[in-house]
Amino acid sequence: MGRLHNKNSNLSSERARFTMNIHTVSTTPYPDQRPGTSGLRKKVKHFQQPHYLENFVQSLFDCLEEMTGETLVLGGDGRYYNPEAIQIILKMAAANKVGRVLVGHKGLFSTPAVSCVIRRCKAFGGIILSASHNPAGPDGDFGIKYNVGNGGPAPESVTDAIYTLSKKINRYLILEAEDIPLDTLGIFTLGEMTVEVINPIADYAELMEELFDFDRIAALFDTGVFHMYFDAMHAITGPYAKDILEQRLGADPNTVLNGEPLPDFGGSHPDPNLVHAKSLVTKMYRANAPSFGAASDGDGDRNMILGRRFFVTPSDSLAILAANAHHIPGYRLGLAGIARSMPTSQAADRIAGALGIECFETPTGWKFFGNLLDAGKATLCGEESFGTGSDHLREKDGLWAVLFWLNVLAVRRQSVESIVREHWTHCGRNFYSRHDYEDLPAELSQRLIEDLRKQLPKLKGKHLGHREVILADDFSYTDPIDHSITTEQGIRLCFEDHARIIYRLSGTGTEGATLRVYLETFEPNPDQHNQETQVALADLIQIADHVAQIQQRTGRSQPSVIT
Ligand code: G6P
Ligand code: ZN
Repeated sequence: MGRLHNKNSNLSSERARFTMNIHTVSTTPYPDQRPGTSGLRKKVKHFQQPHYLENFVQSLFDCLEEMTGETLVLGGDGRYYNPEAIQIILKMAAANKVGRVLVGHKGLFSTPAVSCVIRRCKAFGGIILSASHNPAGPDGDFGIKYNVGNGGPAPESVTDAIYTLSKKINRYLILEAEDIPLDTLGIFTLGEMTVEVINPIADYAELMEELFDFDRIAALFDTGVFHMYFDAMHAITGPYAKDILEQRLGADPNTVLNGEPLPDFGGSHPDPNLVHAKSLVTKMYRANAPSFGAASDGDGDRNMILGRRFFVTPSDSLAILAANAHHIPGYRLGLAGIARSMPTSQAADRIAGALGIECFETPTGWKFFGNLLDAGKATLCGEESFGTGSDHLREKDGLWAVLFWLNVLAVRRQSVESIVREHWTHCGRNFYSRHDYEDLPAELSQRLIEDLRKQLPKLKGKHLGHREVILADDFSYTDPIDHSITTEQGIRLCFEDHARIIYRLSGTGTEGATLRVYLETFEPNPDQHNQETQVALADLIQIADHVAQIQQRTGRSQPSVIT
């Protein structure tokens, strides 16, 4: 099998000199630059307002003065406005005395690959340009996120400080210079700063080869009976998947679907779930469907896993990866612990119990896993929102999850469905679904949550349907490492039979508000494992509506998206 190694060593040492001319540009603050769950996300047109991007970037540099002379990693998911934003940030980095920027070829970098390069190159931090799974194009979304030296998203103390500075900014610094030719791998200078245009795949692919048994996965593809599709959804993972799956592992040349990153992601919504990855789902439910299907999102950190006519929920996927970690070279020595976001199902807790390791429950947002990973308390992490990852990076990682599953399949030589069903037989099944009510008026959804909060004291101990509520609260998290406290992270109703209803407002939208209702029941009896999820959850769905009066308040008879 031919494995391509595109190591950066073949960088041309072409150098270009640019004249030193730093401008101080007067500006006035924008009041809305508070980063959300995953960075600052707004409509492209919002970012294109005069000085909007520059204000945020300058606030970031002002906040992180220690970056002087240090190395920064920079790249984005290729969405509309990515190339322009990269050039602006490079010139501002040069004016703000950054020492060196490692920028992805053509300005591209998946989110997990940025995390990988920050760690491998011991960079000070990184800037990722992405709005993840949100649609792109001139009328779509754009985003900017800062990651710190451990490779993970900046903690709230940093993002809050950037926001505070953005509210009083009055100038920004930018170097007047020609654009860096991002199409050319090589080393350039911008004022006093070095810019290295690097292969954005090489370090990441090497890390994957260290973690997984590539020969064993290649042998699975060599059998000729195992086929898969990977839907890159015209976003960042196309080149990564082609390099790793098709070239290094020898999968069929037509394995990667929609592999060409496009500035508008082909007009689609690059969110790997049953709704937005419909064409992959259709292919996987056909009579002659391949054995395995997967998809990733705009910036490459999310994943969806499918077997032949079978969907693996992200919550189950986390639990099953944990149960099978001993098959994987990178995790053979065992897991320190598992961490899941609060709304993610409790399937992970069950396998953690069986393995005798701890399971941590954190607020939604990958950044909350950072401390647990750094402290060696958790090895695997996962979220219901199609995010899975481990201590190999400080971001969730779409292709990593796909390779993990492939390695498990290569060892166990069973179908995805039989692996999942065996898992349920051993651990019980957590039926799980999320109902989203999108684009609600912000005030209405805020009031709905506030009214739920007021109801909490009298909900505890109450019988709803045949279940008793044993815990009713607004989730608050005390980080076990730095003891920081994060409050108001979602209304939880927990029942005595391990069922749960959770209400939360999304922190990643750019328009209106999205109410998320997370529903979960636990079924130990294998005879009951074949029920359809929405049927198994039917009574809980009714209770969830009754308690929060969703239909009545929103005028919606059903959720906009069910996953
Ligand atoms: C992003 C974050 C995740 C989070 C997800 C859902 O993908 O990286 O950590 O779980 O958004 O967030 P939301 O606030 O929209 O439910
Ligand atoms: Zn993403």
